[in-house]
Amino acid sequence: MKAEILTLLRNSREYVSGQDLCARFGVSRTAVWKAINQLKEEGYEIEALQNKGYILRSYPDILSKNEIASRLGTKWVGKTLYYYEDTDSTNADAMRLGEEGAEHGTLVVANHQNKGRGRRGRVWQSPVGTTISMSFLVKPEIAPGKASMLTLVMALAVAKGIEEACDLSTAIKWPNDILVNGKKVCGILTEMKAEMDYIHGVIIGVGINVNVESFPEELQSMATSLILEKGRKVSRAEVIERVAENFEEYYEKFMETEDLSLLRDLYEERLISKGKAVKVLDPQGEYTGISKGITDTGELVVETQDGKEQQVYAGEVSVRGIYGYV
Ligand code: BTN
Repeated sequence: MKAEILTLLRNSREYVSGQDLCARFGVSRTAVWKAINQLKEEGYEIEALQNKGYILRSYPDILSKNEIASRLGTKWVGKTLYYYEDTDSTNADAMRLGEEGAEHGTLVVANHQNKGRGRRGRVWQSPVGTTISMSFLVKPEIAPGKASMLTLVMALAVAKGIEEACDLSTAIKWPNDILVNGKKVCGILTEMKAEMDYIHGVIIGVGINVNVESFPEELQSMATSLILEKGRKVSRAEVIERVAENFEEYYEKFMETEDLSLLRDLYEERLISKGKAVKVLDPQGEYTGISKGITDTGELVVETQDGKEQQVYAGEVSVRGIYGYV
């Protein structure tokens, strides 16, 4: 009931009467009063006026299961929701939950990770209370080889989600880093449990620097956060809400064609390297060229000096701007 009360209060500019809340949830006034008090203890500033009812005055950056559940307007993403104050890695949690039979669309969110995993075996730092660490479990009935495209689907959902929640413009560094003003705010790690021809589950893990106020010196030229770019605190729950809603929409589009053809334009609009010179760090030999966009299956298309188009596969190689990180 707490999550529903929150949704009602958040969506109302007027006072909501205690009587209305009792009638809507079929509970006593005391039960409503208790729920309101619990919300106040969690940090919501709720004003109560006799004869008028309750109004939500402000909600700082609160992250909790209720806060997230009360916002999600999705059909299937996050309908099963796990929230941990502290965990090793939400990707590991989602993988375990998937193995135990958790449903398609399950979302795992944590306020802090102790063993956050980055791409290529790197460690992902997620300081307490200022970052988003979340993992989506999906169980698509597609060939395992197509699952890597889901990383690009998520990159688009995060880019759009940040734009909607913070009114900041975002860019994507192929395949899946999200940038604001040329610096990374989000990383995505996709992992999969599959047989040769059958997917048991795909975990798409998203780490977003939201209210991180400073970075170690060696990262300052490459990493940023939403608070630093926006100049004010950002609600993590709102960012999660927007990302989840966009992911649901884009995932459904992806499943219509089992490729990125319906999302390619949206992705390329944000592709930072499009039309620019890039360096492809291929283990077989580095080369430079002009980034032209992506294929329907998510490879980066690079035109080399001899006019030939190369398709670059994520996972095998890195791509850099010729003058640095982007
Ligand atoms: C990268 O290296 O850029 C990818 C980072 C992905 C981090 C996220 S945070 C939530 C999820 N759980 C993890 O352990 N990793 C991903």
